Amino acid sequence: MSDALVRNRYFDELTATPDLAWMGQNTNHIPAHPAVRAAMIQAIEAGEFNAYAPPLGFEALRAAITADLGLPEAEALVTEGGVNALALVCRARCKPGTTFVTTDPSWKWPLLFARQAGAEVIEIPIYDPACDYKLTPEALAAAVDARTAVIYLVDPNNPLGIRYTAEEIAAFATIAKDCGALLVHDCTYRDFADGHHPALRVAPEHSVVSVSFSKWLGLAGMRIGALVTPRALLEEFAAQATSVLGASVIAQRAAQAGLAVKAEWMAEVRRIDTANKAMIREAAEAIGLTIPVWPSHGNFLVLETGAAGLRPEALVEAARRRGIMIRQGTYHTARFGDRFIKVSTSVPTEWAIRLRNALPDITAEARTLNDLPPQF
Ligand SMILES: Cc1ncc(COP(=O)(O)O)c(C=O)c1O
Repeated sequence: MSDALVRNRYFDELTATPDLAWMGQNTNHIPAHPAVRAAMIQAIEAGEFNAYAPPLGFEALRAAITADLGLPEAEALVTEGGVNALALVCRARCKPGTTFVTTDPSWKWPLLFARQAGAEVIEIPIYDPACDYKLTPEALAAAVDARTAVIYLVDPNNPLGIRYTAEEIAAFATIAKDCGALLVHDCTYRDFADGHHPALRVAPEHSVVSVSFSKWLGLAGMRIGALVTPRALLEEFAAQATSVLGASVIAQRAAQAGLAVKAEWMAEVRRIDTANKAMIREAAEAIGLTIPVWPSHGNFLVLETGAAGLRPEALVEAARRRGIMIRQGTYHTARFGDRFIKVSTSVPTEWAIRLRNALPDITAEARTLNDLPPQF
């Protein structure tokens, strides 16, 4: 069977698993805010989906996105998920002879898009307590040169959960400016962080921000996100968009309703997420897993498996057999992936309890597993 089909069937089987606890993709499974549900239902009942949306997104949503970031001077380009915002940036800026500089771990798909466009990808290792699991301005400065087209920064980092200070973002922006690169600030997890500083605030000419509605608002299956650009760069990026007929109307209505209730919604999501993290931390440490980064500023935790003598892939398979999806480190990083699993925490409390209660059995079975099916 082709790799693409094997991969598709892997996810198809997960979606067909009754009552699966989705704790591997940082999606948000806390029941939707009533205003968001109502907005979607209203859009369906009004038949709004019969028409295309405006190509850059509904103006009210575009304005709400930039206001939410505190960037009223910037322009939002609504995309089918944050992933497509990143794809279009790579298409616009990466070409043979350029470099795309990021961290390791980073989020893998933009690296693929950069390579597809012919750029050389440079990954700066950050999985190291010596650098607090963070990119440093010194390491970045050493990795860039006149060929660098894009510096791609995931902040908070998925999977590590670190986040950057305003000073660090300013230092990265200066380095980008000096080498003529675009600083691409992937802010997908910003709403789970204590303190976050979009690069566009300090680099309004040579940075862009990507945002997602999948994680904080729970709209992963709706496919909605945005690229936020300086006004002067909007034309360049709009010309590269492939969503020329607009993003989903229903998703946009949901996103707009979500932004209107964001403070209230996120207070509740973060309360549940924080309690889940504490519960999972305690259960994980009790069986010998270790936690390199605490607190995590994302809706997920990295759990290291080495001290317990466990293979990440075996844990993922044993959890899958119990109706729980968690993620093997190699999804994120070839170099460091054998050290950890990642567990997503923006889920109903019952799911976190289910994982906590199953962990002893999962680890016991993981020790017996050798031949494992492929994981993605
Ligand atoms: C760092 C990062 N950026 C972007 C995305 C994609 O978000 P979306 O669902 O909006 O395409 C993800 C999803 O896992 C992510 O982890």
